[in-house]
Parts: sequence; C-alpha cells; structure tokens
Amino acid sequence: MKPIFKYFEKIDSTNLEAKREGDNGAAGFTVISAGTQTAGRGRSGHTWISPEKVSVATSMLIYPDGIPMEHLPRLTIIAGVSVAEAVEELYPLKTQIKWPNDVLISSKKICGILTEMEAENGHAKQVVCGIGVNVHQKKDDFAPDIRGMATSLDLELSGQQASRKAITEAIWKHFLKHYEVFSSDGGSLEGILDSYNSRLANKDRRVKVVHQPHDFEGVALEMNSEGKLLIRKDDGSIVAVDSGEVHVRGLYGYV
Ligand code: BTN
Repeated sequence: MKPIFKYFEKIDSTNLEAKREGDNGAAGFTVISAGTQTAGRGRSGHTWISPEKVSVATSMLIYPDGIPMEHLPRLTIIAGVSVAEAVEELYPLKTQIKWPNDVLISSKKICGILTEMEAENGHAKQVVCGIGVNVHQKKDDFAPDIRGMATSLDLELSGQQASRKAITEAIWKHFLKHYEVFSSDGGSLEGILDSYNSRLANKDRRVKVVHQPHDFEGVALEMNSEGKLLIRKDDGSIVAVDSGEVHVRGLYGYV
C-alpha cells in the first residue's frame, strides 16, 4: 500500500477530485491535496473553508476490499487517530480525541474529517476519506462563532511554523499502517484501540446519552472495536453507545 500524491494549487474539493479520479480508474491510495478549495465539503452538507495555503486539504481514494460496507464509516475514526499520531510525531504537542473523531489540542479542534462512499449493487465501489487540518491560521482567521473551539498547529506551536507537506505525508503514513490492519481484520477497530483510547478526551468524564425512551447519564470509559463508546451507568451496568446518541456535557472548549 503506497500512496500516490497529487497536488493542486486550487480545486473545488479534494474529496470531489478524488471521486472523479476514482471514476476514471485512478489507483487505490491516490491522495489529492490542494492549496485552496473553492467548494470544500463539510459534514451534514456544510461548506468547509480552506483559505489559500493556510490549511491542509487532503483526500485519499480507497477501493475497500474485504471490509463490510457498514464498517466503512469507521475510516473516519482511523483518520482521526492518524492525525493525532502525525501531529505528535512531528511536533512537541499533545493531542486528544473527543469521541468519535474530533482531534483536539488544548481542548480545541484542529481538523475536520469527511468520509464519503460510492456504492453499487449493495457494495462500496470506492471510498474517499478527506481531512482538513488547521495549520497556519491565526486566532482572528477563525470566524467569531468558532474562535473558542478551534485552533491551528502554528497557534499551538507558538513561534514554530508547521509544515503542510510534512503533516499531510505523516497523516497518510499512519492511516495506511492502520488501514492494512483494519482491512485484514475485516473492519474491526481492534488495531487502533490502544492509540485511540490513550488519547480519549471523554475518558472518565460524565456524559449524557440521548436515548429512547429515556436519556441517561454515565461515565465514559473507552471506545470498543466497533467504534462504540462504553459508558458506565450510575447503576453500575455498562452499555455501548453509537455516535449520534451521546452528548458530552460542557467539558471541552468547543462543546
Ligand atoms: C467537518 O465538517 O468537520 C468535515 C470537514 C472535512 C473537510 C475536508 S478538507 C479536505 C476534504 N475535501 C473536502 O471537500 N472536505 C474534506
């Protein structure tokens, strides 16, 4: 598994370009990166702003093999842990991960991840995993409504300048190391659990679970190999919850 890197100064979206390249038969593990995106895509249909040469915008094209389609969204979690490992490999910074995939430095978000899938006859033809990392932003570059919740590598390094190229290459190096194990394990996250849980920001914190018919509270313990968060309820029982069910109560800078 070797990445093939392609760089564009300006593109609509690296996720879209990776998809187009896949539709035209590009090799698996092709990485599309850009200096700026004119139509960057975020979660839930939001746009993602990528100002010129300030952040990393990078996407990998994957033809998943031997991984059940329903497990492919777990690639977002693998991408998160890969960003955390890449940052710590390159810089004297400590990362945490807010379950399921928000990578934090000093309790603030450093990146966004969007995994998109193209299915055909009930199986995934191709997957694109896209990552945007805040690298050279200054405090005022963030919109006032997210200023308290977001940070950049340069802000955290106070003085040192991070390298967009180095962080891009390191992220995909760690991602492919994990992807190899993930695909040979049939889509289990077992291979990343130590790295992931050692950075879990929610660990031993109180969380509120939004659940039918009743919400409940408990203490977050760790993520399991299905990407679920294990929670110890106040009666001592342990439950595993899916993302979308949990609200972390006011514990971090941006929540
Ligand atoms: C989020 O909303 O948090 C996810 C944002 C994902 C942004 C990245 S930037 C590189 C890639 N290309 C896109 O158009 N989106 C992703």
